[in-house]
Amino acid sequence: MCGIVGYVGPREATEVLIEGLRRLEYRGYDSAGVAVLNGDGMRTRKAVGRLSALEDELKRDALHGGLGIGHTRWATHGVPSVANCHPHTSFDGKVSLIHNGIIENHRELRRELMDQGIEFRSETDTEVVAHLVAKTYDGDLVRTFQKVIRRLRGAYALAVCHTDEPDKIIATRVGSPLVIGIGDGENFIASDVPAILKYTRKVVFLNEHQLAVVTRDGVKIFDAALNPVEFTICETNLSLDAAEKEGYEHFMLKEIHEQPRALAETIRGRVNGDNVDLTELNLDAAVLKGVRRIAILACGTSLYSGMVGKYLFERFTHLPTETWSASEFRYADPVIDDGMLVIAVSQSGETADTLEALRIVKEGGARTIAVCNVMGSSIPRMCDATLYTRAGPEIGVASTKAYTTQLAGFVLLSVGIGRLLGVTDAEDERRLVTGLKQLPDQVQALLDEDIVAVKRCAKRYKNVFNFMYIGRHFNYPTAMEGALKLKEISYIHAEGYAGGEMKHGPLALVEGTFPTIAIAPQGRTREKLISNVQEIKARKGVVVMVSTQGDEEARELADYLIEIPPCEEELSPILAVVPLQLLAYYTALQLGRDVDKPRNLAKSVTVE
Ligand code: AGP
Repeated sequence: MCGIVGYVGPREATEVLIEGLRRLEYRGYDSAGVAVLNGDGMRTRKAVGRLSALEDELKRDALHGGLGIGHTRWATHGVPSVANCHPHTSFDGKVSLIHNGIIENHRELRRELMDQGIEFRSETDTEVVAHLVAKTYDGDLVRTFQKVIRRLRGAYALAVCHTDEPDKIIATRVGSPLVIGIGDGENFIASDVPAILKYTRKVVFLNEHQLAVVTRDGVKIFDAALNPVEFTICETNLSLDAAEKEGYEHFMLKEIHEQPRALAETIRGRVNGDNVDLTELNLDAAVLKGVRRIAILACGTSLYSGMVGKYLFERFTHLPTETWSASEFRYADPVIDDGMLVIAVSQSGETADTLEALRIVKEGGARTIAVCNVMGSSIPRMCDATLYTRAGPEIGVASTKAYTTQLAGFVLLSVGIGRLLGVTDAEDERRLVTGLKQLPDQVQALLDEDIVAVKRCAKRYKNVFNFMYIGRHFNYPTAMEGALKLKEISYIHAEGYAGGEMKHGPLALVEGTFPTIAIAPQGRTREKLISNVQEIKARKGVVVMVSTQGDEEARELADYLIEIPPCEEELSPILAVVPLQLLAYYTALQLGRDVDKPRNLAKSVTVE
């Protein structure tokens, strides 16, 4: 998820672009760049790191001109670097282009252009579009752009300008947002409204496949066949803060609702027919055949996704798999050798304990794979391969979309590696791939329901002092994660426990005001979890059940019933955690907590 912005008018374009990019940093911030056109042609400035690095560049060597485009990057193809930073310039230096999204057929287009002698300077998918526009340009940029975008597949918001037509920016979108800002003698384009609120509240939301031609004197919009279309100018009343959260009250709630898209992006290009496709990881079957065991290293929420990963690896690769809290691992006496495959899991890629544990295993000769959400961060740079979750920036301290996309990543990794080892059963692979493809819609359906039971439960139990979460097997980690969500943002104590362990002590806690969240979807351990619930009910305990739709036994037993769609047992942790995220959110809201920045915590724990 990146941020794009464009301006044409009497102001210094760079001032408007920097202001806009600053307001879009929540969309991505590993590098940024601007290009400005004036009578002398086009000049570009780029910098890796936060936006301030680009501002410093511009202070050293300013760019002047009234037309410009800018971009703040969240890398999906190619690590953060000046070469990979947008705007991208064509081989002839006449075209500048910015992009938010993924061009799925970029590899074939790149090969075609390279065969024509075009030299590429970046690893990005975007650069192919800049060269295509320059190759296709016939003196009419609108018609040229129309021809080029017909060849693209994927999701994109694009903006392009050309030195031969220095009065206009042309923009289009398919699957990624794009808004046009209407000013007085000036006009704007941006990924989101926050980027232009300082200058105008008059906006036009571009529709899919439409092209906008933006000059300082006006805006024209065309359909894909270049027929002019009528459009409505809206007056947005969003405050800057609300616009950054796209209308959600908190980033955490926005990110919970981004999970369908995040899951779809994480799966995109990694399933092919009925098979998992891990080509991007370049995992050598010969190398993997030397692997005799797996260790998963992580902290916090990432550790809990790793606990699900353990069950998946053991089921689909038959390799013994252990999970380690990285903070424990580094002080233990682990046995490390070159038969060990280590999976380091981290949203930020900068967690100090995980980094240190990774250093230890690398010294011991283990092979390493990262599961990470931030391209080019420290942990992926230390690993032999990385499966990037494509959740986009996660701003809320409480991890949500990173967790569910990590879980999807573990399904892809375990099944994909299992097949490379010749172990995964074809029917298992087919049913898991089918299930993965259904997940985004299933999560969306869950979010579309106004989960009344969650809100009622949050309101009823906001003042209790203790919650117990129980689950078994794939959903024992779900219990741990649900408990962590509640305690880290509502400050209510909550404990995650394996359901089978209740009778070994924790059952003593149960009495009338003690609520237990029981995660009991369809699966191998459902009946056992139902027994746990019956034990708790027999002792007057209150039970909130997360069950599969249509489970009448659960309906009869539960004081509050939260239902999730039927799914493969291995995927149930992804669906079951969503209501638990919402339960934590609404409970914290009831208590007036600072949901996005809970006390004592940081988004990335880069200290030991
Ligand atoms: C989870 O909600 C917390 N923010 C925290 O436990 C987090 O998961 C942990 O610090 C690990 O962070 P990482 O995934 O960036 O390594």
